[in-house]
Amino acid sequence: MDKKIIYSGIQPTGVVTLGNYIGALQNWLKLQDDTNYQCIYSIADLHSLTVRQVPAEFRNRALSFFAQYLACGLDPQKNIMYFQSHVHEHTELTWILNCFTYVGEASRMTQFKEKSQKHPDNINMGLMDYPVLMAADILLYNTALVPVGVDQKQHLEIARDLAMRFNNLYSSTFTVPEPLISKVGAKIMSLQNPTAKMSKSDENVNATISILDSEDDIMRKFKRAVTDSDTEIRFGEDKPGISNLITIYASCKGISIENAVKELQGLTYASLKEAVGSSVVQLLAPIKLRYNDIMNDKENLLNIAREGAEQASYIARKTLRKVYKKVGLVQL
Ligand code: TRP
Repeated sequence: MDKKIIYSGIQPTGVVTLGNYIGALQNWLKLQDDTNYQCIYSIADLHSLTVRQVPAEFRNRALSFFAQYLACGLDPQKNIMYFQSHVHEHTELTWILNCFTYVGEASRMTQFKEKSQKHPDNINMGLMDYPVLMAADILLYNTALVPVGVDQKQHLEIARDLAMRFNNLYSSTFTVPEPLISKVGAKIMSLQNPTAKMSKSDENVNATISILDSEDDIMRKFKRAVTDSDTEIRFGEDKPGISNLITIYASCKGISIENAVKELQGLTYASLKEAVGSSVVQLLAPIKLRYNDIMNDKENLLNIAREGAEQASYIARKTLRKVYKKVGLVQL
């Protein structure tokens, strides 16, 4: 049991994008076969409740997200995969950690400030507590490493602070997590604005490829992808649109950027877009087939979620018991 724990939560909002697949999932597929690590992934459904959700839609989307991650090849035998709301220790530890989080530090979080501005009519306590729930997610599992993008760095920082604060007050209890900066995982940009990351919440549907998009949608979106005014197929900072297309092609084919450029050299922009679109269609076709199979067997899907929750609870329970004891709650 000296495998390093890697933990990540996935909010079931928007869609799972090609960017998620190439940027994160492809790395996770490698990690699940690396015996140095035990990966734990939760669908962070409680986090998503900090903004209003339509219940029936939300439920379907959460299930669909879980199925999409399975369809991408994340194996529930190799990773612990579950829904956050199925493991009640998350909310319980959140309460304890709340009592060690200063209102000042929570209200200084960039994401809290941004979301408050975006939803001025719904600045709820959950929004402010969001990073504390995330800290609980991480700290329950003796997590050593958390893969984080820039937007979540500050939240990981608060998780580290809380862990150290608690450890200093009550003796060593929590592992202090470190960020996992992934090595290769190419960054995929918006097809409409190639200087911004492809985002699952982009309002322009043409900017994002969902891993469940139909072949027609994929080809149409690439046809409309923003490029530039010259005709040269070259990778470079001054050519964000073309570079993004080259990166996508290289990632889908599993080849280097140099080789991708060689293969694509000489094409017109129109045929470049077609080649890149086809490479994406090819990559996603088997995933979509698996997704449909998984969604057609709800009972099996729920069983996978149930087993995942049981595995997670087993670890979380032990941590929470230790914490309750340390803070002086009466043990039965
Ligand atoms: N807040 C993260 C996001 O929106 C999701 C998340 C929830 C998470 N719990 C986590 C990420 C624990 C890493 C670790 O991206």
